[in-house]
Amino acid sequence: MRLKICDNPQQVGYLAAADIALQLNTKKNSTLILPTGSTPLPVYESIIKMYKNGDVSFGDAVTFNLDEYIGIAEDHAERYYNFMMRNLFSKVDIKPENINIPDSRTDDPDGECKRYEEKYRKTGGADLAVLGIGQNGHIGFNEPGTPFSSVTHVTSIAESTVKANSRFFDNEAQVPKKAMTMGISTILSAKKIILLATGKSKHDILIKLLQQTSANESIPATALLLHDDAVIYADREAITG
Ligand code: F6R
Repeated sequence: MRLKICDNPQQVGYLAAADIALQLNTKKNSTLILPTGSTPLPVYESIIKMYKNGDVSFGDAVTFNLDEYIGIAEDHAERYYNFMMRNLFSKVDIKPENINIPDSRTDDPDGECKRYEEKYRKTGGADLAVLGIGQNGHIGFNEPGTPFSSVTHVTSIAESTVKANSRFFDNEAQVPKKAMTMGISTILSAKKIILLATGKSKHDILIKLLQQTSANESIPATALLLHDDAVIYADREAITG
């Protein structure tokens, strides 16, 4: 697991966007795993600029989002489908049929997870995965204790994550308590992984992650130690606190 330290979140965003562009310019029909949340916003801003400048196209790209809430209103701004449309997909030339996000409208979340994992595995594994990290070390919604062997599954969102994500909702009670998430083994199947960590709020977990010498399920992000092409892009604030 390598570490690259950047001055600020914008530089982190630019670096990750440049990696996505390089991937898509090398192989137009690349499969990407993508996150939501605050951290990837500068990535999406940068890649949209690159697209508008003609430096990259999503014309043949296939994307799989990491996760989606269960029991969120279809038109809620925080439904990850709506987040992705607003912040990336409506602004680039991706084909709607190439966008994959677990479907929050399902009445069979377990079945939806199975369908999602099968569809993802048919791609042969993502070429590139971009991840954020939760303050408790989660990746996707794989909270501490999730087996590294996990595939896409229904999960309970940890109380600390509900608290952290309440900033996007009117109040904590409105944050969904369940989600569908790609599993750790699903994520590890990507050929290259970039984990983004920016801001003071990620300092403690980032330092803890960097101190680990072996992967352990109590800190889900340590799974990246099992991968041979994983890199962390962190900003100075996340490093210094
Ligand atoms: C979201 C996801 C989560 C976030 C994490 C950090 O799709 O997979 O693991 O990456 O909760 O969220 P932010 O970036 O909002 O701090």
